[in-house]
Amino acid sequence: MFDLILRGGKAVLPWGIEALDLGIRGGRIAAMGDLRTAGAAATWDCKGLHLLPGLVDAHVHLREPGDPAVETMGTGTKAAVLGGLTAVYDMPNTSPAITDSAQLAWKRGRVAEVAWCDMGLYVGATRKNTAGLAALELEDGVCAIKVFAGSSTGDLMIEDDAGLEAVMRSGRRRVAYHSEDEYRLRERRPMFQAGMAHRNHMEWRDVEAAFLGTRRLMALARRTGRPAHILHVSTAEELEYLADYRDICTVEVLLNHLTQTDEAYDRLGGYAVMNPPIRDKRHMEAAWAAVRDGRVDVVGSDHAPHSRAAKERPWPDCAAGLTGVQTLAPLMLNHVSEGRLSLMRLADLMSAGPARVYGAVNKGRLAVGYDADVTLVDMAASRVIEESWIASPCGWTPFAGTRVQGWPVGTVVRGHVAMREDEVLGAPAGRPIAFR
Ligand code: DOR
Repeated sequence: MFDLILRGGKAVLPWGIEALDLGIRGGRIAAMGDLRTAGAAATWDCKGLHLLPGLVDAHVHLREPGDPAVETMGTGTKAAVLGGLTAVYDMPNTSPAITDSAQLAWKRGRVAEVAWCDMGLYVGATRKNTAGLAALELEDGVCAIKVFAGSSTGDLMIEDDAGLEAVMRSGRRRVAYHSEDEYRLRERRPMFQAGMAHRNHMEWRDVEAAFLGTRRLMALARRTGRPAHILHVSTAEELEYLADYRDICTVEVLLNHLTQTDEAYDRLGGYAVMNPPIRDKRHMEAAWAAVRDGRVDVVGSDHAPHSRAAKERPWPDCAAGLTGVQTLAPLMLNHVSEGRLSLMRLADLMSAGPARVYGAVNKGRLAVGYDADVTLVDMAASRVIEESWIASPCGWTPFAGTRVQGWPVGTVVRGHVAMREDEVLGAPAGRPIAFR
């Protein structure tokens, strides 16, 4: 007897795609195979659908505490399950930032109260909490320490080698970095005047700013032996360079960098501005090559909601960051439909990858004994992304009007059906994820 059987879907397994029934009991996958004769409290006919291991966005900014008119943990996780995600990993550059044990305890409590999907929590590194990071990274629900080595939204930053090395020497788990060289950003800023065209964003925060940041971090990671994860790698140069650091460094690439090039600045203005910036086609092609040859571990959205007013200020005062948690899976499924990657590679980048990089326990694959996190997908569905569908209070997406082939039609979080055909069901059942 099962709580739920997902019947007759095509399951995307690490060893191939197989038509099977998936039996769920007590929030875990209890059986996979032919379950025709088995009973269940509920069944879901999945004929024609693919069952993916719960897709994850390992890079979101849900802004709580902060501005509830823009996003909260409740609205951001609702957006996640509507977009087919079973978990999100939330960044610490809130207002105030998440940098100590008391704030982490508060945040874990909020997850239990309001989250529609499971959550991993990043802790922000500061000069003040550096010595305490070794203990903070072991707290329940913490996926990693996050270091802003270059400035972005919020006030978290450690830009100097001594400060970065001190972080690397405090603790042992993989550290996640925003890698742009702050000194170069400061040096180049006077070359640009207020009110210039938005495309100057990628000239100011140029290729060398990102590449130099990454070279500095790799030198320090080698010296200290501390594993690193470079978030949102945005240049061909870094992707090539990091191939020699696979023993110590994992790589995230963003959906935006796989989907948009610099023409977006002319079309979207401030709604194309993010850090690190959207760049030219050469970098997008390099990112796809790196997806294909295995140099990329994780694809995320860097969902970074801001108010329309903040996005519409003239450059460079417009806020940097684009929404994306709800549109990540649909757009990646569209990339699958257009032949850029396979469903198995997508499962690796958005489910197994985050689990492997951060050490998520019982997550990342469809296998008996693992958490019953499943994304149900209809590859035959063709849909237009509309702003009326967006659950984030800020209300906008840079992909409004985009038609996609392939759509998430169900989100199952530890056996609980959180979304079915665009409808959020039941009550928030998310929990902090356990990491090893
Ligand atoms: O564009 C960005 N926005 N990049 C970041 O690193 C931070 C994010 C935000 O929080 O707004």
